[in-house]
Amino acid sequence: MKKRILSGMRPSGRLHLGHLEGVLKNWVKLQDEYECFFFVADWHALTDNLDTSKRQENILQMLIDWLSVGIEPKKSTIFIQSEIQQHAELHLLLSMVTPISWLERCPTFKDKLRALSPSENPSLGLLGYPVLQTADIIMYKADFVPVGEDQLAHLELAREIVRRFNSLYKKVFAEPQPILASSPRLLGLDGRKMSKSFNNSILLSDDAETVREKVRTMITDPARIYLKDKGHPDVCNVFTYRKIFAGDTVDEVEKACRRAEIGCTECKSKLAASISSYLEPIQDRRKEFEKDTDRIWQMVSSGVEKARGVAEQTIIETREAMNINSAPASRSGAKRGGVK
Ligand code: TRP
Repeated sequence: MKKRILSGMRPSGRLHLGHLEGVLKNWVKLQDEYECFFFVADWHALTDNLDTSKRQENILQMLIDWLSVGIEPKKSTIFIQSEIQQHAELHLLLSMVTPISWLERCPTFKDKLRALSPSENPSLGLLGYPVLQTADIIMYKADFVPVGEDQLAHLELAREIVRRFNSLYKKVFAEPQPILASSPRLLGLDGRKMSKSFNNSILLSDDAETVREKVRTMITDPARIYLKDKGHPDVCNVFTYRKIFAGDTVDEVEKACRRAEIGCTECKSKLAASISSYLEPIQDRRKEFEKDTDRIWQMVSSGVEKARGVAEQTIIETREAMNINSAPASRSGAKRGGVK
């Protein structure tokens, strides 16, 4: 039997090259080897933003990107978290066995706290973020969870919660293990982490003109001021991109840069062209999906149905382990709808 994978993403709308390199390429590969569940973590998204007016559009755009890069509903189960209420029940039950101190010392929670203004109070939902994530994972008894490094602390916590649950009740859950992407992290145009909120990303759906304009603003080797200065590709973000998007010419570029035979402007325009041709097939598929969004929602609803079947089973087992079963009278069925 194939081992099971589960992973999710908060719906932030259109995705960027960082998502593709760091996460999606890995998902696409894993589809052939594992039974995969990929879901839209829309409840988790509420910890970033309580404004839900763009929710539907953000989910749709993200799904189109998933499908365009090669996540296939024939191979993987694709669903939306909030469609499966069992996640909420499991989150509640797990929250009973999770000490607050475990959550307060979570580095992602601490980072979020630091980012809040003094007048803002963190919500209970934010504190419990990793508990909900644990529910997402163990609901499907996932063996592996492909994630970025920033999520390792959540996985560690998930394993701790599982151990606590299993020792208090019954061994219902296995401890989930992370799978880290092997590709190096792609930084944003400005050299910081690539993120939509930093406005330093190239979207998978950016047209050639936009890509050219964005690449033009990229920071290169800071020690190379004049064309005649020799370059240091190892410290140049543009070079890192070229290694990924223009693999075969990369040795020549490296030599030329070190000998000051190619300037940054030329190098960038070549990079922009390679990124656009790399994105072209993805964007062609996007256009097809955009024409038929009904098909996407249908695909999601069959994913939801399949996921719900698994989730229902897990909740039955969890309730049984915790001895939270229905009252005997309603269980027997004898009295259901019966005479008074
Ligand atoms: N926290 C993850 C992120 O921000 C999203 C997520 C929610 C997730 N639940 C998950 C990832 C379960 C993997 C498994 O990227």
